[in-house]
Amino acid sequence: MFPFAPSRSLLGLLLVFVALFSLVHAIDIDINDEQSVKSAASEAVYGAMKWYGGNETGGIPGAFPDKWWEGSALFLSTLLYWHYTGDETYNSVTSQGMEWQAGNGDYMPANYSSYLGNDDQVFWGLSAMTAAEIKFPDVQDGYSWLSLAQGVFNTQIARWDTSNCGGGLRWQIFPYQAGYNMKNSISNGGLFQLAARLARYTNNDTYSEWADKVWDWTASTPLLNNKTWNVADSTNIENGCKSQGNNQWSYNYGAYLTGAAYMYNHTEKSEWKDRVDGLLGVTLDKFFPQKYGGNVMSEILCEPKELCNNNEILFKGLVTSWLGFIAMIVPSTYDQILPKLQGSAQSAAQSCTGMGNNSCGVRWYENKWDGWHGMEEQISVAEALASAMLKFGTGDAPVTSTTGGTSSSDPNAGGSDSNSNNGQLKPITTGDKAGAGILTVVFVGLWGGMIAWLFIGG
Ligand SMILES: *[C@@H]1O[C@H](CO)[C@@H](O)[C@H](O)[C@H]1NC(C)=O
Ligand SMILES: *[C@@H]1O[C@H](CO)[C@@H](O)[C@H](O)[C@H]1NC(C)=O
Ligand SMILES: *[C@@H]1O[C@H](CO)[C@@H](O)[C@H](O)[C@H]1NC(C)=O
Ligand SMILES: *[C@@H]1O[C@H](CO)[C@@H](O)[C@H](O)[C@H]1NC(C)=O
Ligand SMILES: *[C@@H]1O[C@H](CO)[C@@H](O)[C@H](O)[C@H]1NC(C)=O
Repeated sequence: MFPFAPSRSLLGLLLVFVALFSLVHAIDIDINDEQSVKSAASEAVYGAMKWYGGNETGGIPGAFPDKWWEGSALFLSTLLYWHYTGDETYNSVTSQGMEWQAGNGDYMPANYSSYLGNDDQVFWGLSAMTAAEIKFPDVQDGYSWLSLAQGVFNTQIARWDTSNCGGGLRWQIFPYQAGYNMKNSISNGGLFQLAARLARYTNNDTYSEWADKVWDWTASTPLLNNKTWNVADSTNIENGCKSQGNNQWSYNYGAYLTGAAYMYNHTEKSEWKDRVDGLLGVTLDKFFPQKYGGNVMSEILCEPKELCNNNEILFKGLVTSWLGFIAMIVPSTYDQILPKLQGSAQSAAQSCTGMGNNSCGVRWYENKWDGWHGMEEQISVAEALASAMLKFGTGDAPVTSTTGGTSSSDPNAGGSDSNSNNGQLKPITTGDKAGAGILTVVFVGLWGGMIAWLFIGG
């Protein structure tokens, strides 16, 4: 049968090769084929959920103890996956986790609330807002998605701090937290975006007044320059918010851009259109670098030197998700945005050949796996792939209460936690902090070792 009789070991080797190649196929996609993009998204989100044990025996739904906000990012990926593909596989586990972490209806759950930042909380609020806008069914006897977004809004505006820098949210909520003296873009941009989305969904002027107020305050500081459209990362109360930490992160741009898009859709005022166009132009120029062809998103500050931490790895997923919604609510941006989503999704999928099980990497523009893997990598790729389905019209534009949205409203949600910055909650103890720090050190050590092994070994 064979021209030569292969030895047993050669056969064995062949079998190993066959097994390897059938496992590690690149997620090859035809970006213009709906089924192809859908199945790639399915593979990426499956890989993200592999890191989740909240629904298993002994697990706590939605809990990621030392990175609590990331639960909101995981569930944003499952929500978007359902929205664009219609596949309900992860719906019940998503509802369960998003309800479990709700605290008193405002995402300040007692286990974590004493060391949260405003940004951590608002990302859960934004995921709940997304659920309402895509008509993800409310849970019976649970908090409605809309009310959770309202609860976050209510507790955050209660923290608006006019005694320093003329307004603004601080980064952290409690005085004992490092970062309490900072006012930063993501906390304020997150509240701005939430207010704008609530304004559009409910048509209640309180929310649009707050969106105006947060925007105006931000633009009065070095955080947001409404001529060059530079979005800085942070300012400090100690120098009166006069100078800026100008690190360039995509989600800071995306947070304000998205809120501006919702405000334009809601008000149809040309000033909001100008802001959308200004921020969109800079965002697309900066984070879809020409040197990678101009259509593939890159977190430019951390990717070249491979310094991205878990938070930063998630930004591309957030921003591509937001861009997908912007293209639907500001139709004039669609032609500009679609090629960026498609180019990013295509490259992102090609990064998913890692670990022998299609794990995705960090740097999409390499068009191959870059040696990294983790839940964050999976989430970002899943969100980019789902968002590239914009092209097929399978996901409707975000709804409002007058265009089919049914999530029930509770404008007073979260009231019982509105004083949550008065220090009554259990302060974090030195023991807790040391514990968390040690975990981080051990984890980073293991991680570094593993990466070193990958590079030296490979
Ligand atoms: C791939 O393998 C890694 C390392 O064992 C694991 O952590 C991850 O969950 C796996 N992913 C999938 C999709 O099986
Ligand atoms: C937890 O959810 C995942 C993803 O939906 C599912 O595969 C798994 O079977 C669930 N586990 C339990 C115990 O229900
Ligand atoms: C808080 O911690 C307790 C004890 O581990 C756990 O039973 C509970 O489910 C946790 N709640 C949340 C919201 O994570
Ligand atoms: C607002 O969004 C809807 C989609 O929900 C879109 O049809 C409409 O054209 C948008 N309005 C403006 C002013 O862009
Ligand atoms: C509008 O929102 C404000 C602030 O949450 C609330 O007090 C008011 O009752 C809301 N109005 C309506 C009509 O829902």
